[in-house]
Amino acid sequence: MKHFIHLKDIPGRDLRKIITDAKRRKISRKKLNNLDVDKGAPLKGKLLIQMFEKSSLRTRLSFYLAIKQLGGSTLTLRPDELHLSKGGESIEDTAKILSNFGNAFMLRTDSDKKLEEFKKHLSIPIINGLSPSSHATQILSDVFTVEEIKKKPISKLNISWIGDSNNVLNSLIAASIKFSFKLKIGCPKKYQPSKKIMEYIKRNKNKIIIYNDPKMAASKADVIFSDKVISMNDKVNKLKKLNHFKKFKIDKKLMSFAKKDCVFLHCLPRGTEVEEKIFSSKQSKVWQQALNRVHVQKSILLYCFGKLR
Ligand code: CP
Ligand code: NVA
Repeated sequence: MKHFIHLKDIPGRDLRKIITDAKRRKISRKKLNNLDVDKGAPLKGKLLIQMFEKSSLRTRLSFYLAIKQLGGSTLTLRPDELHLSKGGESIEDTAKILSNFGNAFMLRTDSDKKLEEFKKHLSIPIINGLSPSSHATQILSDVFTVEEIKKKPISKLNISWIGDSNNVLNSLIAASIKFSFKLKIGCPKKYQPSKKIMEYIKRNKNKIIIYNDPKMAASKADVIFSDKVISMNDKVNKLKKLNHFKKFKIDKKLMSFAKKDCVFLHCLPRGTEVEEKIFSSKQSKVWQQALNRVHVQKSILLYCFGKLR
């Protein structure tokens, strides 16, 4: 049994194995319908319990299809209907029940501490479906998408991030270290990665460069990533923050500093950080990116169950 919480804590070879499995599985079900089960139904009889303490569309749908395609089923709990959210039951007891009734637990939460607490008390795998410090399932899927589009290992590509230093970027930084790819980050000085993340970068001697000029960050990029300037539950003066990011909008001019065949990716939902023209252009692969979540979630589930082929 394995947990899937933060990319930084998972060995690189395991992450590579997940991607390889997802590639194989995606190819092998080209002619199947969304709810058709993969050959061998590897997770037959297994129940994935999901809980979202914050909004979700893609993560919810992709985990639903993922477990179904592996032959299992899913149940989504509403936090407001649990005793836990009202202080009426402990994480320890909730975890015990989840472990007895289900086979894996996917949690989207506003508290990294809560993930750790659940991990401590669960006897089934826990998957982080987004937390304040990371969005691991998203970025692993994005590595898959980049390699699918570019038909090259990500280590041979120039990856750029233009945007806020948030959970998604933290996972991209971890991926850059695990998969050894060059990462240029473009963000205003005030919104650079935290001290802890900067130390993690330094410790791993990785080639991650931070620029406060978006043009420098976009220069010669094969892929440009972005995300909303204001994340869920971001407790900031929104107008002020948006104003700080004005120069960091992804538009035609900024894309012109990247390679001609540069691809634009965004985990979605989007805000105003990207111009409509770019978002709906041929360079943008955001819909393919979102759909790939299903394929990678499946291999993440199999990894957690110790069933990767
Ligand atoms: N990208 C992503 O995680 O989307 P949702 O918030 O809709 O799940
Ligand atoms: N950074 C965003 C990602 C949403 C999928 C957030 O945390 O709201």
